Amino acid sequence: MNIEFFEQERIFKLDTPNTTYMLQIADTEGFPVHLYYGRRLRDHILDDPARLKLHPFMPSKNERERCSFLDCTPFEYPNHGLGDYRDDAFSVINPDGHTATSLSYSTHRIYDGKPAIPGLPATFEGNAVQKGDTAVCAVTNITETGSDSTDSQERGCKTLEILCLDEANGLEITLYYSVFDDNDAIVRSVKFKNTGKYNNIKLTKALSTCVELYGAEYDTIFLHGSWARERWMDRQPLGYGKHSVSSCRGESSHQEHPFIAVCERGADEDHGHVYGFNFVYSGNFIAQAERSQFDQVRVLMGIDPVDFSWNLRAGEEFHTPEVISVFSAEGIGTMTRNFHDLYRNHLIRSRYLHRKRPILINNWEATYFDFDTDKLIAIAKQAKEYGIEMLVMDDGWFGHRNDDNSSLGDWYVNENKLKGGLKHLVDEVNAIGLKFGIWMEPEMISPDSDLFREHPDWAIQIPGRKPTLSRAQLVLDLSRKEIRDYVFSQVEKVLKSAHIEYLKWDMNRQLTDLGSSGLDKDSQGELFHRYVLGVYELQERLVSEFPDLLLENCSGGGARFDPGMLYYSPQIWTSDDTDAIERLAIQQGTALIYPLSTMGAHVSDCPNHAVGRVTPFETRGYVALAGTFGYELDVTKIPKADQEMIPKQVAMYHKYNDLVREGDYLRVASYQENHEWDCWEVVSKDKSEALVTLVQVLNHANMKPRVVKLKGLDPDKTYSLRYFDIGTGNETDEELVLGGDVLMYAGINMTGAYNGDFRSRLLHLKEI
Ligand code: GLA
Repeated sequence: MNIEFFEQERIFKLDTPNTTYMLQIADTEGFPVHLYYGRRLRDHILDDPARLKLHPFMPSKNERERCSFLDCTPFEYPNHGLGDYRDDAFSVINPDGHTATSLSYSTHRIYDGKPAIPGLPATFEGNAVQKGDTAVCAVTNITETGSDSTDSQERGCKTLEILCLDEANGLEITLYYSVFDDNDAIVRSVKFKNTGKYNNIKLTKALSTCVELYGAEYDTIFLHGSWARERWMDRQPLGYGKHSVSSCRGESSHQEHPFIAVCERGADEDHGHVYGFNFVYSGNFIAQAERSQFDQVRVLMGIDPVDFSWNLRAGEEFHTPEVISVFSAEGIGTMTRNFHDLYRNHLIRSRYLHRKRPILINNWEATYFDFDTDKLIAIAKQAKEYGIEMLVMDDGWFGHRNDDNSSLGDWYVNENKLKGGLKHLVDEVNAIGLKFGIWMEPEMISPDSDLFREHPDWAIQIPGRKPTLSRAQLVLDLSRKEIRDYVFSQVEKVLKSAHIEYLKWDMNRQLTDLGSSGLDKDSQGELFHRYVLGVYELQERLVSEFPDLLLENCSGGGARFDPGMLYYSPQIWTSDDTDAIERLAIQQGTALIYPLSTMGAHVSDCPNHAVGRVTPFETRGYVALAGTFGYELDVTKIPKADQEMIPKQVAMYHKYNDLVREGDYLRVASYQENHEWDCWEVVSKDKSEALVTLVQVLNHANMKPRVVKLKGLDPDKTYSLRYFDIGTGNETDEELVLGGDVLMYAGINMTGAYNGDFRSRLLHLKEI
């Protein structure tokens, strides 16, 4: 990893272990211009890809055609309104009413480490945390202790800051780039400063990155979805014009995801060039690829400019969230593993990150709102017998909430349900030998709540308009400090009232009626972003004050599953759809970017509540094993045979979770593509161990041969292969001994290995 500046040519060369990113400061007007992003290069001398020497329309030589130059040059951070008609990265309205922007190089700095971004989640240098020392993470005062990892790899980073000026607007614009010792990611963000030419400049667009790719036939991959159908992979050929996804829902959303990959047309899991971009932010975003008249592709990512504006008063600064980009020359899988490693080593701070999470049982699908102390205790007792380690009480324990029509904001116990109160219940559950966790939805307010009756103006709404309800609730205006303080005091009160070791922080509706009584009329455009900053401030306070709390974020299932939230919580509820087959696509799409250790996944009852499908209990367990693993059912009511399988699954989790949590994830077959079966693998970093999960979705008579070629093993190692036997909770005695080369190149023959739909197998390989 390195960042170098070559003074003569004014070229910056950023190297990661396997990739190089280069930009150049043009002689004309000091424009930062993109040169190269791809496989690692030895040298900085290129054959002028941006045509900065030979350009026929270079303004210094041909001023009359400046517009043609601007409209085809690959800019690092494209300006607005001067002649580059492709989409821009930033725009303003200055006090004279003008919107144009431009950017010229002024100075730069290269240094070790990486600065924090005020108020925002961000990746950080990972050295101390990984070495198991006591270390203070960037930005926060969270003290990390005792990582279980013995990995001693250097996890340092370097940063380049390029200070640019937009003199006409009196703006300083700093472009930040960071690279890491141990990862092929490049992280970018931008800082704006009003130097005082104008008292106020309104930023109307402030994206975080722009990367220009040179001509090739590309595809885009987006992660599209809906409630209970999050993050399905959607691959399309990239045609001319703008192709974008965005959210203006106030959160990253079920519908679209702050991610875009641009890959060569023929790229697949293991071959071809792939560029992936992921936004470390939990609010509105845009991710866009634009193919120009000259077959250049401009990739932009940042906060969605729709309904965004920000007053930058003299002397003030605005920081954008960061975008992570990963280039892989070896297909989509390598991109995936770079994101996974980056998030495990440089983003997630929780002390649970490298630890086995307690196996929890959540009562949502077990009881919905219909529960009381006795029911929960009955579940806890039975769960304990089977080896489950924590009871999580979900929605419905507070105010007078017996359905989803009321009480959000009234965070005091409903004593009709929980006789003796919360502490009594928690003590009882602890006495049984289980930890206790709780659900809250702190950002919300029900019109039918004491809180709303007392503070009707605390909801986000527009005066004179009836606010739109969603799930009968409104959103608290977290841009206001007094409301954030109140919300925090409520969460704190609950967490301190009993021995609570886990919190599921939910967010069950998206934002509408953008209006804040705390902002003046000129600042209403700041509300979306200020809301997200408010959420981050609350979660920062939470993890600082309760560093031992296991926090699981959630939003109507997986509507806020993004890198921003992972900075605060090591796991996020992936989807309200717990059906094992539906989960194949949801978890595959989520794991395209996020480590398996972050995906909340539970075994639930059948027929499944979301889709009515009946699948074997065994298969539900194998699919949940690829996430955090837990249960979401009434253990006292499910069939006896299923109950008896739980201790075997518990044993399975304890046996394999270290590998699942820390290993490399590889996709072998996708049911979404082949419509028959699914297969993924997790391989330990030293390739001495692997776990293979196969799910046969639909069976067919006289099936064609199914030879499974494994991946990621060492061809020179020899492995023993055993099946996990759910009947005993152990691996079969019988073993097959095969070379890594045989397993990968010739494969294992699974033809006819199971009869029936939704059947599955778990295979464990160990080096001998
Ligand atoms: C959301 C969550 C569920 C559950 C309900 C409770 O939908 O995703 O898991 O907690 O809220 O209302």
